[in-house]
Amino acid sequence: MNIVVGVTGGIAAYKSVQLVRLLIKAGHEVTVVPTEDALRFVGLPTWEAISRNPVTTSVHDDVARVRHVALGQGADLIVVAPATANTIAKMTAGIADNLLGTTLLATEAPVLIAPAMHAEMWRHPSTQANIETLQHRGVRILGPAVGELAGGDSGPGRMVEPEDIADAALALLAPKDLAGLRIAISAGGTREPIDPVRYLGNRSSGRQGVALAAEAAARGAEVTLIAANIAGDVLAGARHPSIRIRQAGTASELALAMADAAETADAMVMAAAVADYRPVEVAHRKLTKESGGIPVIELVENEDIVAGLVRARREGQVIVGFAAETPETAGDEEELLARARRKRQRKGVDLLVVNEVGWERGFEAGENEVMVLGRDGLVTATASGSKRAVAAVVLDALRPLWTAGRTSV
Ligand code: CTP
Repeated sequence: MNIVVGVTGGIAAYKSVQLVRLLIKAGHEVTVVPTEDALRFVGLPTWEAISRNPVTTSVHDDVARVRHVALGQGADLIVVAPATANTIAKMTAGIADNLLGTTLLATEAPVLIAPAMHAEMWRHPSTQANIETLQHRGVRILGPAVGELAGGDSGPGRMVEPEDIADAALALLAPKDLAGLRIAISAGGTREPIDPVRYLGNRSSGRQGVALAAEAAARGAEVTLIAANIAGDVLAGARHPSIRIRQAGTASELALAMADAAETADAMVMAAAVADYRPVEVAHRKLTKESGGIPVIELVENEDIVAGLVRARREGQVIVGFAAETPETAGDEEELLARARRKRQRKGVDLLVVNEVGWERGFEAGENEVMVLGRDGLVTATASGSKRAVAAVVLDALRPLWTAGRTSV
């Protein structure tokens, strides 16, 4: 497919070299359209060499082939990364004073932008209003991420990593094979309060669940994402017109939110790490050393949310569970599989996505490795790679169960 990558004048432009590489590696034809300012950061020969296509910034080059509109007309997708506040403002107003501007006006292809700027510029009401307008028009906004910015500041404004932009771009080109699917996905980790300042929690970042939500939405599904304590920069990955986000802090809140979503959902995915236990009593004031002695926190078991969803399921509703296992608990591969089979059966889910976690693996990492167990206890799929790639495989496994459910209802 033909992808136009617009590059505007921000320091993150150097990262877009990697973005172009990834898109080409995935088998696409890429034309880079930098702005004049972008060329101050990365020169024209680099873009030509990496994209293997001629690069120009001016609407007056290649006039014979009406390049200023032809690029937009011929594109299957346009990605603008980094997108500066200035370019975002110009896009909103429809200003076409350079090749990128004319290309954007002349296209009917999906447009994805990855903003990058200083936090103050991002937060400015005009930028926020522009983003809202663009989003309303169907432009996909990816990020910005929170982190270190040029000049040593930090905050929201960093361009999302090129690997994630490539994933989102490729997903936009993907077929809409989940159109019509209403899916509820829980993600993150619950926190069970001990007192107003402390909680029992876990290390789940929510990345895998957010990747599932983003992938499902890209493939045409209507998504409800139930987010349990997910950091803002991770949750930014779920910014999509077809994703509705609901927050749930504790296991009880998550149970309520999932039960609510279950009323209309065709499929439910419990990717959240739920605390198995919560303190019997929550102290209303902070426990202090003066409260006397070392506290003993008595726990009570939380309800098994996914098992409850299975008990209450409507006909044809597909339910997917996750199982995070440490190799130490699971023993060898055989034992891991046997444990997973018992867990799938105990919970009654249609699919169980099993991944190994540990001190170094699984939680905060960008990559994941899973196997998917089906109703018959057999491994129906395995996946390793980015969490987005894993999400795609999980949804591939879910899709036939959903369509089968549809035909039987
Ligand atoms: N789960 C749930 N409610 C709970 C605990 C877990 O819905 N109270 C869901 C998780 O979201 C996940 C699946 O059950 O989809 C498996 O979670 P896991 O923690 O691996 O299983 P447990 O039931 O806690 O079993 P064990 O402690 O034996 O590993």
